Amino acid sequence: MANEAASPVCYAPADELFACAAPRIYMAEQYRKDFPVLDQKIHDHPLVYLDNAASAQKPRMVMDAMTRFMENDYANIHRGVHELSVRATDKYEAVRGTVRRFINAAHDDEIIFVRGATDAINLVAASWGRTFLKAGDEIILTTLEHHANIVPWQMLRDSIGIKLVVVPITPEGDVRIEDVKAAFTSRTKLVSVAHVSNALGTVLPVAEIIKLAHEHNALALIDGCQAVSHMPVDVRGLDADFYVFSGHKLYGPTGSAILYDKREILKQMPPYQGGGDMIASVSFKETTYKEPPHRFEAGTPAITEIIGLGAAIEYVSTIGLNRIARHENELLAYATEKLRAINSLKIIGTTPNKAGIISFTMEGAHPHDIGTILDRQGVAVRAGHHCAQPLMEFLGIAATARASFGLYNTKADVDALVAALRKVQEIFA
Ligand code: ALA
Repeated sequence: MANEAASPVCYAPADELFACAAPRIYMAEQYRKDFPVLDQKIHDHPLVYLDNAASAQKPRMVMDAMTRFMENDYANIHRGVHELSVRATDKYEAVRGTVRRFINAAHDDEIIFVRGATDAINLVAASWGRTFLKAGDEIILTTLEHHANIVPWQMLRDSIGIKLVVVPITPEGDVRIEDVKAAFTSRTKLVSVAHVSNALGTVLPVAEIIKLAHEHNALALIDGCQAVSHMPVDVRGLDADFYVFSGHKLYGPTGSAILYDKREILKQMPPYQGGGDMIASVSFKETTYKEPPHRFEAGTPAITEIIGLGAAIEYVSTIGLNRIARHENELLAYATEKLRAINSLKIIGTTPNKAGIISFTMEGAHPHDIGTILDRQGVAVRAGHHCAQPLMEFLGIAATARASFGLYNTKADVDALVAALRKVQEIFA
């Protein structure tokens, strides 16, 4: 539950998970109080945190849940008969149910805990890819993918001779379904795409892409890192085969992430890493493995972090992803209008299908300079290639500055960003 002491009004809508009867006013200012780090000055200016796509801040209740767990229940899981180990195991395993409900998966055993979304994609590439792909098979990606959804497939290509087919984007940053359709051949085995572009904010038509994949007897992996914090996600509604996301962009801790993997696919996948806790029995002659999901969770996992991720999911679910989406879309529209009025600024990624992210360049100013000048005024944005160098190359630019919104941002934050950008304009005029 959200921090009730700091937030006297229950803010869940009736149509969301963990709902309670509540007024439906969105109170970003109120939610903000749940995030202690936001209450500080940076270079004598109130902090305006607009780097949520890189990592979101943590609400007090996530920190409290982790601290409470370590103070009262901490032990290793699946190993001990003692009370603390039993409690820790129960709490850790209960998070699978929380995640299942959050993304509307069918079964708890379709939820694999990993340390990062990068880990999740590498797991699929190494386990499913090495088992089911052979030389000449094809994987469809798009130009706007994050390096984490490019490099594992390239490594597989270099090792077993598969082919990567890259769907180009439009100048506005859209992925057109006709272009995806044209990329399929009889050798296509997987389509692996972002749900939301981390660099441009584009929302991809993933439901149609997944449908196309299935019509071509291929599977679909969706990188949901930038989606789960901005909109409700329904993996069964989408019919995704694999869906990955990280906890730290969802107001949870680093070191916590999820691979959702359909049960019938997961059952055919061999382990990715070997070690403790993933085995049924070991002898020097032969080792047998546990059933999924445990066979994919070798070694001691990030137990406390997974507890924190469960708390983060409860937190955002209590507010309601639909309401967060509406609020962030309003902020995005407001910011887009304000940034368009700055004549030396160019927004990169102008499709109307966007979520919570606005990337831009400014005449005469390198994005790193923009980031540094904004920082001196307390405004935190990311500047760089955003782990999407092929996208930058496609756009003919080296980098952008990027503002990305979270559930606690307000129009006042956008106004502060705009005032700081005017300063950049003055300096580089
Ligand atoms: N992938 C993260 C970002 O977009 C780090 O900033």
